[in-house]
Amino acid sequence: MTATEAIPESVLGRVVLLRDQLNHHLHRYHVLDAPEIADAEYDALFDELLAIEAEYPQLYSESSPTQRVGAPALDQFEKVQHARPMLSLDKATTPEELAQWMQRCRNRLGDGEPLTFTCEPKIDGVAVALIYEHGELTLAATRGDGNEGENISANVKTIGSIPLRLTGDVPPRVEVRGEIYIPLEQFERFNASAVARGDKPMVNPRNGAAGSLRQLDSKITAARPLTMFCYSLGGSEGDWQPESQQEVLETFATWGLRTNPALEAVADLDDCLDYIGRLEQRRDALGYEIDGVVIKVNSLHQQQALGAVTRKPRWAIAYKFAAQEATSVVEQVDFQVGRTGAITPVARLQPTFVGGVTVTNATLHNMDEIARLDLHIGDRVMIRRAGDVIPQVASVVLSQRPGDARPIDLPHCCPACGSAIAREGEEVVARCTGSRDFCPAQRKEGLKHFVSRLAFDVDGLGDKLIDQLVDNALVSNPADLFTLSRDQLVSLERMGEKSADNLLASLESSKHTTLPRLVYALGIREVGEATAAGLARYFGGIEPIVQADLMSLEQVPDVGPVVAQSIVEFFSQEDQRSLVTKLHEAGVTWPAIEVVAQEKLPLAGQTWVLTGTLETLSRNVAKQRLVALGAKVAGSVSAKTTVVVAGPGAGSKLEKAQTLGIEVRTEAELLTLLESRENSEQ
Ligand code: IVH
Repeated sequence: MTATEAIPESVLGRVVLLRDQLNHHLHRYHVLDAPEIADAEYDALFDELLAIEAEYPQLYSESSPTQRVGAPALDQFEKVQHARPMLSLDKATTPEELAQWMQRCRNRLGDGEPLTFTCEPKIDGVAVALIYEHGELTLAATRGDGNEGENISANVKTIGSIPLRLTGDVPPRVEVRGEIYIPLEQFERFNASAVARGDKPMVNPRNGAAGSLRQLDSKITAARPLTMFCYSLGGSEGDWQPESQQEVLETFATWGLRTNPALEAVADLDDCLDYIGRLEQRRDALGYEIDGVVIKVNSLHQQQALGAVTRKPRWAIAYKFAAQEATSVVEQVDFQVGRTGAITPVARLQPTFVGGVTVTNATLHNMDEIARLDLHIGDRVMIRRAGDVIPQVASVVLSQRPGDARPIDLPHCCPACGSAIAREGEEVVARCTGSRDFCPAQRKEGLKHFVSRLAFDVDGLGDKLIDQLVDNALVSNPADLFTLSRDQLVSLERMGEKSADNLLASLESSKHTTLPRLVYALGIREVGEATAAGLARYFGGIEPIVQADLMSLEQVPDVGPVVAQSIVEFFSQEDQRSLVTKLHEAGVTWPAIEVVAQEKLPLAGQTWVLTGTLETLSRNVAKQRLVALGAKVAGSVSAKTTVVVAGPGAGSKLEKAQTLGIEVRTEAELLTLLESRENSEQ
């Protein structure tokens, strides 16, 4: 009996199919930059093939996709042999698997040997090796197939956070390994401007990083927002003999290399699981994509003793989180109406599990986005949920478009009130032309905004209840909320007496508000919380804002012509002006604010620069709040800069600030300052 005779026909067929499919998807991903399936879906096919090959070793083939770790090296770049292979990682997805891995480490090392681990985020980027000779960056290479990568030195040298020369006591030759990636905020910004220019946006940050590093013209790479976390030692010559992974990374940092501040040393499984839980909670706030946690045996000596099997080290493991990308099918597109009448197309999806939740909707933003994606109803799409909660459609799998796919047209009439839908001038956003008084959707959204946390902050008044109040004609504008009676509330379906009393109490207490909250709550287009605060501080009362003309509005810090125009238009509507009066009559109060001259503002004369990722504030809000306190916010660091706020991912601007001896603060420090100054202002 020959070896193949023992293998069932169905298994043989499956292996051929899996290998074909995997090769196809590898090509789509690495060469064409147009993946048809999500990484997790690819991994599932890969794992299935791996399992079959493990069961039937006769099926071994050197050309099987399981035999290569990464993409094949491309022809355009010079090939580089890695002195030590760049390994891949085994994975665990449950605490039990992690416990088993720890136990295997213990068993191999022998009883009683103390064993500690490091935990660090598994960055979803591109693995690279950097060679420094006498402190000088002489080579940067991709992982390639693990043994042979590509020389991408010219491209890597354009990345600001990668030092061209190391500082301090550096070995004569050292290989530093790590991950190059694109921070999420920069990714979004890059894509927004790519779309605005009519260029193709990046499918996801990882794809974007890989594509950026493969550019033959390094000027293109230089324009991409790449950065790097260094996470392991590829090898070194000289006397330096680090003891542990932790020591390696601490030393890297002293040489000027960027390392992940989220690294922690842990003693056992419980600590490790605790770290994993904490990191997963922070996942959306990290500012970069991760797909899990890498757990490594801390001692380098023990790492060496454990060694590696088939291109995977025994001393490290990846604990994987739920994938943030998956494919789904667009079953329908609905059009939602926002509080300013803006029409947002929303894709109704075949329910799909992404990033730990089942997703059924994804925002499509506007019609331009639909055109850019070339999306049809019935299309298979790649969806992503990362950083933010609203899932997005990243791309359409055009190669799988069904024959009966239908194009998506903007409706002529508002689905809520039937008024015409129009696009003004160059605006990408289409809007319902009905007034807020007329269109129930706008009214509901306006009310939801009015009671939201940063506005009137009314507890116990959720979206469903607002829908009910409007549908039952109990409330048509925000002032009506304050005249609701207990009987009216109790008459509503699913409203108990206790909830009605609670709601009345929270409405009552929200009546005492502040001018910035009131201005924000009105829901003027383009006026967010920071602009509202700026207007309040500049004008001191609501009446001067209602009366203000374009010229005086543009005197307010951070208010430009577009915002000014929007405010004037808003208050030119009789119903908006009368709303202010009605609120007042309903007993809503807001103390006047003492008007402070621009030059007397607490941060007058100061220039601030924001760099890196801000984890709590959006960059825009941080900027507006600083401006409202009188500061200028600049895009680059110079001798005139007063303070640089540096978040994770800060690169050349932070370096420049340090060189110039400019004060550097963290986001937490910025927040404390904003809060204390804003309060002393009010
Ligand atoms: S350690 C053998 N640490 O994950 C050690 N890898 O699937 C492997 N990765 O090729 C590298 N973050 O591209 C390590 N903190 C981290 C990592 C990390 C991301 C990537 C890296 C590696 C792949 C393994």
